[in-house]
Amino acid sequence: MTDNILKVSGLKVAYGGIKAVKGLDLEVNKGELVTLIGANGAGKTTTLKAITGTLPPCKVEGEISYLGKPLRGTQSFRMVQQKLAMVPEGRGVFTRMTIHENLLMGAYTRDDQAGIAQDIEKWYAVFPRLKERSSQLAGTLSGGEQQMLAMARALMCHPTLLLLDEPSMGLSPIMVEKIFEVIRDVSQQGITILLVEQNAKLALQAAHRGYVMESGSLTMTGNAAQMLNDPRVQAAYLGE
Ligand SMILES: Nc1ncnc2c1ncn2[C@@H]1O[C@H](COP(=O)(O)OP(=O)(O)OP(=O)(O)O)[C@@H](O)[C@H]1O
Ligand SMILES: [Mg+2]
Repeated sequence: MTDNILKVSGLKVAYGGIKAVKGLDLEVNKGELVTLIGANGAGKTTTLKAITGTLPPCKVEGEISYLGKPLRGTQSFRMVQQKLAMVPEGRGVFTRMTIHENLLMGAYTRDDQAGIAQDIEKWYAVFPRLKERSSQLAGTLSGGEQQMLAMARALMCHPTLLLLDEPSMGLSPIMVEKIFEVIRDVSQQGITILLVEQNAKLALQAAHRGYVMESGSLTMTGNAAQMLNDPRVQAAYLGE
């Protein structure tokens, strides 16, 4: 028996004449940290958006199931209720709300006030920068600070599955380390993660399994440690 959390079968997405995803099969099992790597324009964000149903109007084919049930057509708020959380590329924090309000919004499906307050304190301890600025509007945060907030907000709902789209983008090397430390921690706590990354090395070091995507198709998949040592991955994605 596999504890299947997410299963994508035969996914095709076309924006008008542009075939962005050309028949993709991918799965993520319970407790796994799976990474999807690939160059700019490979179709990674499109794949995540197809999963969360946040694509602009375009042609989508294929099946997506979450916890064994079809996901396509499910509204975003239902996904959060079903504990599927996503940190989109470009972060998507509520810019006109304070940091504190953003974190509370992340927990809107919960009603355990004490637990929520505890979680907020936990994230403030992980990212002290957010604590110092808790009453500042999120839109006035730096890019890196918004990234921290987006991640903390997504985790406030205690997701079963967390989708991350390039969490390291635009961060300083120290913050990249920090974000990956948080990703590894969250994974060790048992949250299942699908991580899209440009930083193939860090992603494969953190992940259990990986997929490589090129021009809309998967070209390689396997154990992450083995992929790190694969000469093809090294040549194309690790700059080695
Ligand atoms: N709304 C859109 N309309 C038309 N084409 C789009 C749209 N969004 C993405 N595309 C095209 O689809 C392809 C895949 O884009 P996508 O954003 O999924 O790539 P990606 O792998 O996430 O790249 P990156 O690493 O740069 O974020 C690209 O060729 C892109 O130009
Ligand atoms: Mg992208």
